Amino acid sequence: MLLPSSVVNLPHVTLDSHSVEETQIIAADLARTLSSNTVLALHGNLGAGKTQFVRGLLEGLGGNPRTVSSPTYVLLNIYPSGRLTVYHLDAYRITTPADFEAVGFGELLEQEGIVVVEWASRVADLLPANAIQIHIDSTDENTRQITIDQPAPG
Ligand SMILES: Nc1ncnc2c1ncn2[C@@H]1O[C@H](COP(=O)(O)OP(=O)(O)O)[C@@H](O)[C@H]1O
Ligand SMILES: [Mg+2]
Repeated sequence: MLLPSSVVNLPHVTLDSHSVEETQIIAADLARTLSSNTVLALHGNLGAGKTQFVRGLLEGLGGNPRTVSSPTYVLLNIYPSGRLTVYHLDAYRITTPADFEAVGFGELLEQEGIVVVEWASRVADLLPANAIQIHIDSTDENTRQITIDQPAPG
């Protein structure tokens, strides 16, 4: 692999990953193109690779991927990184918008960092319209199709 990082910056791109490492390289490539105040909405079933993707983001931002863990129970993890703080949310257990507000979601959007949300479809109405949408679909045990949709800037 892999494709130059300019590819991940296209309005719509689908990439095939054949391993955890490739998923993380794709995420790291994307991370290097991100500026502050960006929301990433991660979609995909349990075990698709959403949390592995977040590890790659940390790698690309100059942080420590090993600090990343699934925030399924705590709802929010915060990781400092070389460039931008990453706010990692998991909406799996979110049932009402009030649950999401309880973790201070509104304030997170004002922190000049990167906000990344697993199970984003559960809180789709609460996410900004310019969120980057990332779908991870399992195609086989070790292969994933990763689709990145970036809304037009402005
Ligand atoms: N190409 C791949 N990309 C990402 N994860 C993969 C891939 N192939 C196998 N896996 C496995 O899938 C699982 C993904 O777990 P995780 O990232 O926690 O999923 P999610 O957060 O979507 O529930 C891990 O066990 C990982 O080893
Ligand atoms: Mg996860």
